[in-house]
Amino acid sequence: MTKRIILDTDPGIDDSLAILLALASPEVTLEGLSVVHGNSSTNQGTINALSVLELAKAGQIPVFKGCELPLVQPSLLAPETHGDQGIGYAKLPAPQTRPQVQKGSDFLIEKIMSNPGEITLVCIGPLTNVALAVRQEPRIIRNVREVFIMGGAIRHEGNTTALAEFNSYVDPHAAHIVYHSGLPITLTPLDVTYECIFSPDDLGRLLKIDSPVTKFIADATRFYMEFHDEYQKIEGCVINDPMTLALTFLPEICDYRELYVDVDISTGVGLGNTFADFYNYEKKAPNMKVALGVRPRMFMELFLERMEKLAKSLS
Ligand code: BDR
Ligand code: CA
Repeated sequence: MTKRIILDTDPGIDDSLAILLALASPEVTLEGLSVVHGNSSTNQGTINALSVLELAKAGQIPVFKGCELPLVQPSLLAPETHGDQGIGYAKLPAPQTRPQVQKGSDFLIEKIMSNPGEITLVCIGPLTNVALAVRQEPRIIRNVREVFIMGGAIRHEGNTTALAEFNSYVDPHAAHIVYHSGLPITLTPLDVTYECIFSPDDLGRLLKIDSPVTKFIADATRFYMEFHDEYQKIEGCVINDPMTLALTFLPEICDYRELYVDVDISTGVGLGNTFADFYNYEKKAPNMKVALGVRPRMFMELFLERMEKLAKSLS
């Protein structure tokens, strides 16, 4: 049976790849997208979500606009990482479809509560929509099937500050609510995503197929690769979000530990830092499963094969 998925997302270059991977994967059914601020504004991210779905001929999948601002912190968008439009150098036609009227957090609540134990929530942006949904309807905690979160840097350096990963830094208060909510969380931190580089050779393999999908991937990731080269001296780019999606149906990509994880919401240099109590000093029960080991090629081969298949089907 396929897993019924909702993506809570801030598209975003790697978010767009996660959307495409979901559409290319028969193991999951993408039931809707809730959009959140992050890589770009919620308005721009919503346009990107609709356009990427239409690129893959999946414009029937509903898209819901969520929060435009973090809970407490001022807005922080990422044009230097994802481009002014959020999709690098890619240009997609304006979408023909429109977002739904319902707010993102209301959609999460309604979908989860009307399908108890059925919905897998995959969160690949700042956690504002999810935190609001938890506060508004705490019963979603017992009714969601599982929650996969891309966020945090447990033993890894940050990608936004020395200590903090982007999604947890942009809305640390939302992350704090979600981490301590009792939701059944699997976390994909930078510790594993930074082991998986989408390289120029990987892109070259996809470009052997002439298709709007491979052109989109090339134009989007070219910008992302330039960012990684300039800021982190990485050849290629780290595609965090599709890896998180892949774990919903191929958990063997990673090794996990059950840990008590917290996020720093004090106002100092550690804001947004995520840390795990490996030696259980706090005597607290684990609040999530954390991916800490990874088989990089297992993920990359899956990603490339699925993109090839999707591109061929749409060329
Ligand atoms: C996360 O932040 C964003 O830049 C990416 O889309 C990903 O979700 C990685 O830190
Ligand atoms: Ca993202």
